[in-house]
Amino acid sequence: MKILVIHGPNLNLLGRREKEIYGDVTLDEINETLKRRFPKINFHFFQSNTEGEIIDELHTAIDGDYEGVIINPAAYSHYSYAIRDAIAAVTCPVIEVHISNTHRREGFRSHSVTAGTCAGQIVGFGELSYVLAVDVLLHKKNKH
Ligand code: DQA
Repeated sequence: MKILVIHGPNLNLLGRREKEIYGDVTLDEINETLKRRFPKINFHFFQSNTEGEIIDELHTAIDGDYEGVIINPAAYSHYSYAIRDAIAAVTCPVIEVHISNTHRREGFRSHSVTAGTCAGQIVGFGELSYVLAVDVLLHKKNKH
């Protein structure tokens, strides 16, 4: 099973950025946790601070060999209709994840324009949000 994991802007700063909100875990540690917990899954990890690059990466999951996409669009979740449209074009299930509980923070964070085109959204469980997203994709694959 091949899964694409996309991390959006500023997530490369995890471990150094607003630790009281995002904790100590780094992006590399999140990726390593996924590889360790799911050794049979072939993950492709991608991080970008640029909207167009995230869109181009999503396009690789159209009619390709990915069986799922996990995306944390970060701040783009709250306003990027272009990323929303790219997710809508993806032909495998897409799960949106957030590390922090966006509903407990500033008002603008409680709305995601991208989540509506995803199969679902997992919010507020730190790196576990990503682990749970893989579990969902595995569950979906085994059901079909
Ligand atoms: C985030 C939440 C967003 O509101 C924020 O802009 C981020 C990270 C999260 O994972 O909690 O950069 O997506």
